[in-house]
Formats: sequence, C-alpha cells, structure tokens
Amino acid sequence: MDKFLKQIYHGHSGFLSFSEEEKKIAAQNQVFLTYGEIIAPSVDYLLSIIELTEDDVFLDLGSGVGKLCLQVLMRSTAKKVYGIEAHEIRHSISEHAWKKVKRKRPYFGKSNRELIFLKDNFLNFDFSPVTVIFMCSTCFGHELMESIATKINDAPLIRIAISMKEIPNLSRLSLYKKIDIKTSWNESSPCYIYMV
Ligand SMILES: C[S@@+](CC[C@H](N)C(=O)[O-])C[C@H]1O[C@@H](n2cnc3c(N)ncnc32)[C@H](O)[C@@H]1O
Repeated sequence: MDKFLKQIYHGHSGFLSFSEEEKKIAAQNQVFLTYGEIIAPSVDYLLSIIELTEDDVFLDLGSGVGKLCLQVLMRSTAKKVYGIEAHEIRHSISEHAWKKVKRKRPYFGKSNRELIFLKDNFLNFDFSPVTVIFMCSTCFGHELMESIATKINDAPLIRIAISMKEIPNLSRLSLYKKIDIKTSWNESSPCYIYMV
C-alpha cells in the first residue's frame, strides 16, 4: 500500500507552509491548517481493529490530500467513504489522486462503492448517514472538538469515532481503546477509539 500511494502522490504533498496570519484567520473559522498524516501501516492497523463492513459509511474530517480515504476504500468493504477538506490545494490533490487510482486500478472506480472528496469546512457537513468517523485532530482547537462532539451526538448512525485527541462530552459513544500509532510526525502518537 505504501509503495502504491507513493506512486500515486509522486510530486504532490499536503505539507504546505502558511504564515501565522493565514493560520490565525483560518482558525477563526475553525479550520486548523497544520498538516500531518497517519502512515499506511497505521491505517491498516486501525482497520484491523474496527472491522468495517459493507454497511459502513466512513468519514475523514480534514482529509488532507486523501491518502487515508483512498486506503480505507481499497482496504475495507465500506460502501461509502467521504473525505472533507477545507484547503483548496489539498482537496484538489485528493481529487487528482483518486482519478489516478481509477486509471491504475479501474476496479475501484467501477464498483458500486463510492469515494467522495468535498472541499468545505466539515462543520457544514450533515453527519446523519455516517457510521464511522475519523479525525486526525491533534491540532484541532477545543471549541472545534466540542462542535464535532455535538454533531456526533446528533448523528444516530455513528457507531465508531476515532480521534488523535480525546473527544469531549460524547453521549452515546464511550472510550473502547487508547492505542499508540506511528504518524508522519511521531514514532508513537495516542489514538482514541470510541464505540457505541
Ligand atoms: C492533520 S491533517 C490530516 C490529514 C489526513 N486526514 C490524515 O490523517 O492523513 C488535518 C487536515 O484537516 C484540515 N482541516 C482542519 N480543520 C478543518 C475544518 N474545519 N474543515 C475541513 N478541513 C479541516 C486541514 O487543512 C488538514 O489538511
């Protein structure tokens, strides 16, 4: 998977630099531009714990250049995978990567399973069809985490939430496991898995 993703993303990266001013303005809209990725073996490890099925609708909050979503589509049976990313360049890299995957592995484009990348603030997204949610939330602010928790509490189908930071005030889901996974920025980063 690692090798395949390297081919797909050759010459394209989500690691962009921003001025302090740009980061501050984005944060006022609850967009935190700091970047990092969950590396492919860690995504496989997470998938082995949560065991997605063909009834699942997976959502990555802040999907960056889309690697995690592509991997979830290729390595699980989830019927729908959504990736929502606020930053234009990162979003367009994810669209480009998805087109490339469909060219190299046409099977994924032709199956009745779907991968949808949206360019938006994920707070605008309706969580109601979602069953499993992921967020690489290490740099998300507290207010954003609270807003996400409210949206999760209001989404009756969500059965699993995975976050790189503790999610405050969840009502239906509780902590199932805290694990450590390797990320692009650390050999070992805490990851919280909540389940119904
Ligand atoms: C740490 S990166 C994670 C990338 C990818 N999900 C992964 O785990 O490999 C977080 C991403 O979330 C995006 N982001 C942060 N706040 C957002 C918001 N409110 N709406 C949409 N995207 C957001 C950032 O632009 C960034 O690309």
